[in-house]
Amino acid sequence: MANAFLFFLLLIFSSNIIFENIHACNQSEHSSLLFLSLTLSSPQLNWTSADCCNWEGITCNRDGWVTHLQLPSKGLKLKGGIFHTSSLANLTHLTHLNLSHNSLSGSLDQTEFFLSLNYLEILDLSYNLLLGVLPSSLSSIHIRIVDLSSNRLHGAVPSSFFQQAWNLTSFNVSNNTFSGPIPSSICRPSSSLRHLDFSFNNFNGSISSGLGKCSKLQVFRAGHNYLSGSLPEDMFNSTTLEEISLPLNSFYGSMSDGIANLANLTTLDLSYNQLSSVLPLHLGKLSKLKYILLDFNYLEGSLPLSLMNCTNLVELRMGSNNLGGDISMLNFSKLSQLSKLDLRKNNFFGILPRSIYSCKFLKAIRVSYNNLEVQIQPEILSLKSLSFLSLGWNKGLTNVKGAMKILMGCKRLLLLSLASGFLGEEMPNDVEMADFNGFQNLRLLDLSSCNLSGIIPSWLSKLKKLQVLDLNHNRITGSIPSWLGTLPRLQMLIMHFNQLSGEFPKELCTLPMLVSGRTAAHDQVGLNSYGLPTFFSPNANAKPLQYNYIFYNQFIYLGHNCLSGNIPIEIGQLQLLQRLDLSANNFSGNIPDQISNLKYIEILDLSMNYLSGEIPASFTSLNFLSSLNVSYNNLGGPIPSSTQLQSFNASAFEGNLKLCGAPLPNKCRTTTRADAPDMSTQDVDTKEHQIPWSYVSVALGFITGFCGVCGPLVLMTKWRYAYYHFLDNVQDKFHVMIAKRMASMKRRFV
Ligand SMILES: *[C@@H]1O[C@H](CO)[C@@H](O)[C@H](O)[C@H]1NC(C)=O
Ligand SMILES: *[C@@H]1O[C@H](CO)[C@@H](O)[C@H](O)[C@H]1NC(C)=O
Ligand SMILES: *[C@@H]1O[C@H](CO)[C@@H](O)[C@H](O)[C@H]1NC(C)=O
Ligand SMILES: *[C@@H]1O[C@H](CO)[C@@H](O)[C@H](O)[C@H]1NC(C)=O
Ligand SMILES: *[C@@H]1O[C@H](CO)[C@@H](O)[C@H](O)[C@H]1NC(C)=O
Ligand SMILES: *[C@@H]1O[C@H](CO)[C@@H](O)[C@H](O)[C@H]1NC(C)=O
Ligand SMILES: *[C@@H]1O[C@H](CO)[C@@H](O)[C@H](O)[C@H]1NC(C)=O
Ligand SMILES: *[C@@H]1O[C@H](CO)[C@@H](O)[C@H](O)[C@H]1NC(C)=O
Ligand SMILES: *[C@@H]1O[C@H](CO)[C@@H](O)[C@H](O)[C@H]1NC(C)=O
Ligand SMILES: *[C@@H]1O[C@H](CO)[C@@H](O)[C@H](O)[C@H]1NC(C)=O
Ligand SMILES: *[C@@H]1O[C@H](CO)[C@@H](O)[C@H](O)[C@H]1NC(C)=O
Ligand SMILES: *[C@@H]1O[C@H](CO)[C@@H](O)[C@H](O)[C@H]1NC(C)=O
Repeated sequence: MANAFLFFLLLIFSSNIIFENIHACNQSEHSSLLFLSLTLSSPQLNWTSADCCNWEGITCNRDGWVTHLQLPSKGLKLKGGIFHTSSLANLTHLTHLNLSHNSLSGSLDQTEFFLSLNYLEILDLSYNLLLGVLPSSLSSIHIRIVDLSSNRLHGAVPSSFFQQAWNLTSFNVSNNTFSGPIPSSICRPSSSLRHLDFSFNNFNGSISSGLGKCSKLQVFRAGHNYLSGSLPEDMFNSTTLEEISLPLNSFYGSMSDGIANLANLTTLDLSYNQLSSVLPLHLGKLSKLKYILLDFNYLEGSLPLSLMNCTNLVELRMGSNNLGGDISMLNFSKLSQLSKLDLRKNNFFGILPRSIYSCKFLKAIRVSYNNLEVQIQPEILSLKSLSFLSLGWNKGLTNVKGAMKILMGCKRLLLLSLASGFLGEEMPNDVEMADFNGFQNLRLLDLSSCNLSGIIPSWLSKLKKLQVLDLNHNRITGSIPSWLGTLPRLQMLIMHFNQLSGEFPKELCTLPMLVSGRTAAHDQVGLNSYGLPTFFSPNANAKPLQYNYIFYNQFIYLGHNCLSGNIPIEIGQLQLLQRLDLSANNFSGNIPDQISNLKYIEILDLSMNYLSGEIPASFTSLNFLSSLNVSYNNLGGPIPSSTQLQSFNASAFEGNLKLCGAPLPNKCRTTTRADAPDMSTQDVDTKEHQIPWSYVSVALGFITGFCGVCGPLVLMTKWRYAYYHFLDNVQDKFHVMIAKRMASMKRRFV
């Protein structure tokens, strides 16, 4: 019995020995790996068994050399943030190294492993926190895939890096901070490169010729950089290309007809550049095209008829160009896959052809800002997926009641913008809309600049998912209904320039999204997945960001109406409010101290009312305030002193005879408060008054408002409301200087 047991044990041992003999991890490899694991702070790798060839993520060859080290997404972190590459460098037989999606930090500078791993075929260090610059060359002649994307690497990508990389098929350095030129010498005769990705970096200069030599290139991406010059013409010699993505650069000049060579092209993304030619006549020959993204350029001429032969088209984005022509010439009926059509802001004219309704998968239609004749026709109901419809700022849109009755059948609609249509009609009233039961999913309703009369109808209260209600520049009368305060998701109420009267309803101060943001951000719809891209410049010098969440802001704009009474103290409950405009109304009484509870307020405009009393001292605690206007009221006393309030122009306070202290030039004579400013110097810098706002309003194409009868001094100060117009007539080119200056107020959704 005991003997049998011993024999059994022996058997196990010897089989283990045999096993080890086969796989036997070379001792030096074993210690290199152990050293590597010691440099990791977390997590503990289960690298305990005797044979390192059995360890997780490790594969050896028959001779016991480690060939694969693959530990993606293991949460790996380095102790002290230092990449001890010597342990890697000693694994000289590595062919596959995949440490992607970890938190490896430290610098790649002077790391030997680029130089000593002579058998490396696959290198994937993407999605880590690696710093440093690339070495001048990669020593392995076997290298096939290099993925260093989504790290923090910088410096140039030297041409010599690829010197011996004859078999390189994929090179991805996207999403780092590399700079300098795109190394187009990466392409050599008989190059096997298929995928090149330089996007999301700081590459600059023009792309020199050379890409044409990549005779197998399928994907070329270099978007979101600072590239300029003309498009590299010889790129069109790479007839294997399936994707060209160069958005958000400064390429200028023409797009040549050579592109018609690229018969396999499915994606052409040159959006946000400065291309200014006509479209290549034979673009439509590229019958495999799925995505044509050419928006935000200066392209001219008409759409080539051949485009309507691209039966695989999924997205056609031509918005914000100088294109034109009679759109009724186009026959959309072959574009059976079309999902997004964007022709916004061009010079197209003619009737939107009915053939568009045969594109059954259309999700987004944006043709606003053209000279089209648009009508809402019942056929639109055949577009079952339609979620984004923007037709505003065209011609001929009439019959708002009929339009609403048809559109309420579009069950998926998320965004509806019909701005500047239905001129002078009446807002459909509750009797007319008695059977209204639509818009269950609508997030944004824009009926601005329609000059609609009537009152705010209560059928709108059924729009339970509404986040943005934009009715600015109409002639809407009556009071602000209290039910607006119950819309569970409303966060932008935009109704300036109307004729609303009555008080500011206290109920509005309970708007859930402004009180507590109960419906949290993650619940919001990223319109990009349903609609069309929106871009946003956080400040003048930053690259524009793609604005994923359009409903990011909390605004109440009620300026230029006929509202009266006090500003309710309950307003302090709207803690998340970022912008409040009550200007040019008839509000009276004091400015409630509770406004200081609006701790996120950025823009506060109470100008041109009959407010009296002092500016609450608590205003000094509004840390986010970047624009304040209390001018032309009956305010008095000292302006509370804080670095912020004194940093505004005097014009923010002018027109209040009894107000004193900096930044106003008149000093407070008899100070009633200890903290009142001491105005011993006579004159405040008068240059402050000479901001060239008239220039700003011209640049913005400002249109004078109508409801001048209520608020005092409307004409005198119209320039100050230039920014409102951003809501109607959003600037196109993010790089237009003025747009940048006002970028913080910029929204782009139609
Ligand atoms: C292990 O590697 C060393 C070099 O690091 C080499 O000299 C030795 O021959 C290898 N052993 C085996 C069994 O392959
Ligand atoms: C560690 O790996 C060995 C096999 O290599 C396995 O038997 C053991 O369960 C693992 N331990 C843990 C904690 O995963
Ligand atoms: C790597 O190899 C060198 C020399 O072959 C040796 O000095 C060094 O200790 C090794 N490093 C590790 C971590 O094993
Ligand atoms: C690295 O591993 C990840 C996760 O398994 C995988 O998705 C990726 O394709 C690998 N990289 C390469 C270059 O094979
Ligand atoms: C390059 O790839 C080819 C075909 O896959 C192969 O035969 C050749 O050995 C590779 N060359 C190198 C240096 O790895
Ligand atoms: C390059 O890597 C990024 C992730 O960092 C990925 O999104 C992109 O698709 C890759 N490019 C190519 C051409 O595969
Ligand atoms: C860029 O890298 C960061 C950090 O790894 C990552 O969060 C982000 O998703 C990446 N962006 C793209 C476009 O791949
Ligand atoms: C690229 O950027 C660098 C650093 O900002 C600058 O020195 C260089 O002149 C730029 N090159 C071109 C061609 O614009
Ligand atoms: C593109 O190819 C054509 C003929 O195939 C050749 O004449 C031309 O020189 C090439 N262009 C470039 C820029 O390489
Ligand atoms: C185009 O794609 C087809 C199918 O994927 C392929 O057979 C053909 O070789 C490609 N043509 C070129 C020029 O790459
Ligand atoms: C569209 O394709 C058809 C058939 O392939 C062809 O006859 C017609 O000329 C093409 N139209 C245009 C405008 O290219
Ligand atoms: C559009 O083309 C289809 C066939 O593709 C044809 O049946 C239809 O009559 C055309 N419509 C117009 C208005 O030309």
